[in-house]
Amino acid sequence: MSSTALPDFPWDSLAGAKTAASAHPGGAVDLSVGTPVDPVPGHIREALASVSDIPGYPTTHGTPELRESAVSALARRHGVTGIDPAAVLPTIGSKELVAWLPRLLGVGPGETVVIPELAYPTYEVGALLAGASVLRADSLFAIGPQRPSLVWLNSPSNPTGKVLGADHLRKVVEWARERDVVVVSDECYLALGWEGEPVSILHPSVSGGDFTGLLAVHSLSKSANLASYRAGFVTGDPELVSRLLEVRKHAGMIVPRPVQEAITVALADDDFLAVQRERYARRRLTLQKALQDNGFRIDDSEAGLYLWATRGEDSWQTVNWLAERGILVAPGTFYGPRGGEHVRVALTATDERVAAAADRLAG
Ligand SMILES: Cc1ncc(COP(=O)(O)O)c(C=O)c1O
Repeated sequence: MSSTALPDFPWDSLAGAKTAASAHPGGAVDLSVGTPVDPVPGHIREALASVSDIPGYPTTHGTPELRESAVSALARRHGVTGIDPAAVLPTIGSKELVAWLPRLLGVGPGETVVIPELAYPTYEVGALLAGASVLRADSLFAIGPQRPSLVWLNSPSNPTGKVLGADHLRKVVEWARERDVVVVSDECYLALGWEGEPVSILHPSVSGGDFTGLLAVHSLSKSANLASYRAGFVTGDPELVSRLLEVRKHAGMIVPRPVQEAITVALADDDFLAVQRERYARRRLTLQKALQDNGFRIDDSEAGLYLWATRGEDSWQTVNWLAERGILVAPGTFYGPRGGEHVRVALTATDERVAAAADRLAG
């Protein structure tokens, strides 16, 4: 049996830089991954525990309360109206969905999946697991006359923090509808706009209130510090969601019942989201200033959890330069060939570690 030819897991190649950064007398400041560091709020932990005595299997579709909670969160936080709660489907974090979505929708060999030029690596993995081809393209022009089966969008972007405006998103949706192409928007950073206001693909200004052919993928990892719980959901076109539900029921892709409860409570809590946003906003300003004062240019980065920074040199040179100062970041090449002169600096470190990074940059 042959294994699917997947790319090497990119973070393994950071081992040398990690060793160098860890040799710093003050220890490494790890800004190479977007993993939350602030605690899970007490009431979310209580929600998780409150149903931990239930012995039976949970439903793949999630509790009605979870689905209602997702619908109201999208309306309150992002102005998305008109979603039928039946068209909400919880996922075990969003990474598994990203990795399996093309396969779950029946995309296969001979078909093409479009991903952003600079992209979260799992979009490519998902296309390869389905046996499909990958095309990196940021514009309809770059797609040309081809008719892909599925187009991934990611705004705010990992890694660049770029926000796609409603006009851009609408053009993609119109183009896709004319060609019967599914558009999937990964919106896991939607609540983290700093200089731009990110828009959901399901927002009426983009979708016109018609969700046909559209899916929005959401995660609670970053907005509610729930990366360890594995908590996300997908919504949009009721027909597509119902196809996903059918396959996921057969395949046992079920969110554990306690996590479903945690998702329900977290999606109802805008106050905690505001607190967490404040933390990231502060860390972002500290890192942005420290980098800019020390010869870096920051590109895009209007939203999301990363600064897309460059010193105008090969990205590995920058990774090593920072590692010598005890700071670990990811080279832009992890996200696509166009990232060769950038590094991705995550905002997910404690205030103490972020202050340490700023001190080290100041020399
Ligand atoms: C763009 C993007 N999508 C999806 C994910 C997956 O997040 P999770 O599986 O924690 O929901 C990440 C994680 O960093 C991401 O950056």
